[in-house]
Amino acid sequence: MKIPSSIWTLLIGIVLTLVSLWYGQNHGLLPTAASDEAVLVDGLFNAMMIISTGIFLIVEGVLIYAAIKYRRRPGDDKDGPPVEGNVPLEILWTAIPAIIVIGISVYSFEVYNDIGGFDPHAIHEAPITQNMSMNMPGAAIAATLNDTPPSTEPNLNQQKSDEAMQDPATAAVRNADQIPQKQNAPGVGVVSPTIGRSPEKAGQSPALAINVTGLQYAWIFTYPETGITTGEMHVPIGREVQINMTANDVIHAFWVPEFRLKQDAIPGRQSEIRFTPNKEGDYALICAELCGPYHGAMRAPIVVEKQEAFDKWLQEQQVASRETLNQAVALNPADLSPNEFLAPYTKDMGIQPEMLHQIHK
Ligand code: CUA
Repeated sequence: MKIPSSIWTLLIGIVLTLVSLWYGQNHGLLPTAASDEAVLVDGLFNAMMIISTGIFLIVEGVLIYAAIKYRRRPGDDKDGPPVEGNVPLEILWTAIPAIIVIGISVYSFEVYNDIGGFDPHAIHEAPITQNMSMNMPGAAIAATLNDTPPSTEPNLNQQKSDEAMQDPATAAVRNADQIPQKQNAPGVGVVSPTIGRSPEKAGQSPALAINVTGLQYAWIFTYPETGITTGEMHVPIGREVQINMTANDVIHAFWVPEFRLKQDAIPGRQSEIRFTPNKEGDYALICAELCGPYHGAMRAPIVVEKQEAFDKWLQEQQVASRETLNQAVALNPADLSPNEFLAPYTKDMGIQPEMLHQIHK
């Protein structure tokens, strides 16, 4: 019995679809998805993977089939039949890719919106500073008519970044005076890249804000609520985190592959990114912008942990930063009177300052 070609086409179509659907979701090309946003991005990636697998199999399948079926037989020296043009086929192979591309673009806009890429409040919330309006010729009138008043809130992120630049050693290494963007840049605001809140979280402020500064070749994290500064970022699981980032020298990029999010850190501007980590683990923040010879080494550990573990870590960091302060005082005994110098020790030993005074006499 000869199977008609339409049945063959149908069977091949079903097999191709099943294989594409399976492989598109089991390709194993992506690292762990550790944030709510990652799931959405992976959905888009998998959809594209399904389509690409299908197209790959059709194209390669036809190619291999034709190469075998229509190969030159021994003794056959004739030319092939002159095939020229096929309007319906050409319409079909133009229409199908067009539909696929439009479909993917609509889907990707949808994902970008869901992760907060079109947060309409973001630009309003980044106020134009006084400094900026002074620097921009013709902007003064616009600034006075603006109903958003200039921000007077201290911006810890920029402050930390400026502090680091004032350290002469750091500034010398980074050629601070040769970076014009840094010198004239406004503290916050203007049009900064933002991945804001997702529409479903509109109106909610993030549970935790972390300031991140990128510099050649390290990341510095500051927790504004507690004021601690660290070289590794800890976040509690299941709470939305907002990262406010800036850079001290050149453009860096905040990229955590497991969160599937990436954002530029730009000198003199504050860019933002929001996400909700949802899987415990140790990840890495990788700089994703070529920023100099040691760009490849610019990494920092990221720890997603339970709320209790996070609170404990935060406390330890606070204690550690206090201890550092005490040590700094003890290292300068020349400036202290004997009483002041001995105070921490005598207190531990249960000796009153008056007693010490007596002995001295
Ligand atoms: Cu910083 Cu690459």
